[in-house]
Amino acid sequence: MNASPIGVFDSGVGGLSLLFELRRLLPNEDFIYYGDRANAPYGAKTHEEILDISKGIFDELISRGCKAIVVACNTATAVAIEPLRAAYPDLPIIGIEPAVKPARVAGCRRVLVLATPVTVSESRFSALLRANSGEGCEFIGVPCHSLAYMIENDAPSDEIEEYMSSVFAPYREEGFDGIVLGCTHYPLAKREISRAAGESVKVFDGSVGTATHTKNTLERLSLNSLARKIGTVEFISSDGGDHLEQFYKKIAKI
Ligand code: DGL
Repeated sequence: MNASPIGVFDSGVGGLSLLFELRRLLPNEDFIYYGDRANAPYGAKTHEEILDISKGIFDELISRGCKAIVVACNTATAVAIEPLRAAYPDLPIIGIEPAVKPARVAGCRRVLVLATPVTVSESRFSALLRANSGEGCEFIGVPCHSLAYMIENDAPSDEIEEYMSSVFAPYREEGFDGIVLGCTHYPLAKREISRAAGESVKVFDGSVGTATHTKNTLERLSLNSLARKIGTVEFISSDGGDHLEQFYKKIAKI
């Protein structure tokens, strides 16, 4: 049993969608949320840059006493989860991956997996899609160049919807019946994405699965807190602002 905080990191506000689920499942844990807004969006960085940045953030969170780290970023998971596990062998590290399995289990036949350009170009991503394709279910990786940036910078709802309509346009003719949100920013624009796709298209995201996996991992390692109090969140933003905290207050009310 261990009352130290759990570290959670992303390039900005995206990982707050996962933090929200983590706090729902682990209400008495303390969290440190690191949003790397000074370097956002990660989707426009190189593989090497993301790896270096992730290691720096891990060192910071470890120096603050974190007992486990949740990489609340699909891009950093796709690029860095294996080197990070090799570099910090004693630390439980949980990553997030696109929820392709739930889409297959739900019976979808043609599914667009939306993610940042970096995630889509990673071999871990293509291997995941390949492993789940077949038996009448096809997964197509779709890079969304501007979406995380728009969400991070509070773009108006109609602009996000219009952008998503342009992303979906090449896939309309053959059709699609599922969408996987393969970036933690995207659940924050679920309504706009759904409107642009068409309300009958099913939408999947990995935050509940990842939060459950985090809870199970802590319990298996006896690292869960037994504190009889509601846990706290400390927000750290690499740009020094308080945007993360304000944004979290907004989504926690939804
Ligand atoms: N939220 C991140 C992800 O899940 C990164 C988005 C970005 O910074 O480009 O991929």
